[in-house]
Amino acid sequence: MDIFEAMRARHSVRQYKAEPIGQDVADKLREEIAKCNAEGGLHLQLALNEPKAMNCLLAKYGSFKNAVNYIAMVAPKDGCEEKVGYYGERLVLLARQLGLGTCWVAGSYKKVPEALDIAEGEKIHMIITVGYGENEGKPHRSKSPEDVSNISEASPEWFKKGVEFALLAPTAINQQKFRFELDGDKVKATHGMGPYAKTDLGIAKLHFELGAGKENFVFE
Ligand SMILES: Cc1cc2nc3c(=O)[nH]c(=O)nc-3n(C[C@H](O)[C@H](O)[C@H](O)COP(=O)(O)O)c2cc1C
Repeated sequence: MDIFEAMRARHSVRQYKAEPIGQDVADKLREEIAKCNAEGGLHLQLALNEPKAMNCLLAKYGSFKNAVNYIAMVAPKDGCEEKVGYYGERLVLLARQLGLGTCWVAGSYKKVPEALDIAEGEKIHMIITVGYGENEGKPHRSKSPEDVSNISEASPEWFKKGVEFALLAPTAINQQKFRFELDGDKVKATHGMGPYAKTDLGIAKLHFELGAGKENFVFE
């Protein structure tokens, strides 16, 4: 599955099989986690077979099942929200390519710091559950390209693709409060008001960049 197929096939998966994540799959995830941490100055970590985070009432209301593996988005406390989204989504898409389901979880989980390595000045921003899905999830309701960008018929193909793939990105409560404005070969990406809107923007920017092709533009 290439990265475009992964963006199309990714939907939040909340019910997992009681099947441990294989060693080689875990190794590949950890390898990419190390790259994201080095590039982004983050401290993301894979927690395997850690049932406590998703064994709270909130998670049960959210109909999670067998959610015992997750990527903990550990990072410096301040100024990292967008990066958490951008790099976390890189891991989400790799997980999809490796045959795993995922779900970003910012609200309905419990922090389990004893299962993680959290340095001074860092915190757990949120988690991404991972595992072999009992289902593939389903496509979300989506805003239109016109709702989230200054797209027109005259827009270059790469911009249209960027917006198309950004609309496939997961966002908190499916709010899609991001906006892409094309100005020459510059793209201005902004977010509106809403919970975790900065992290959503990081996620949407990764999708946009993959769809549009990095060589075609720069973010302003
Ligand atoms: C930053 C962020 C936080 C989220 N937090 C939660 C959460 O606490 N609980 C939950 O069940 N889903 C959560 N989600 C998943 C969203 O509800 C989901 O991505 C959205 O409805 C779009 O659906 P899709 O991922 O299937 O495309 C979160 C998603 C994002 C991006």
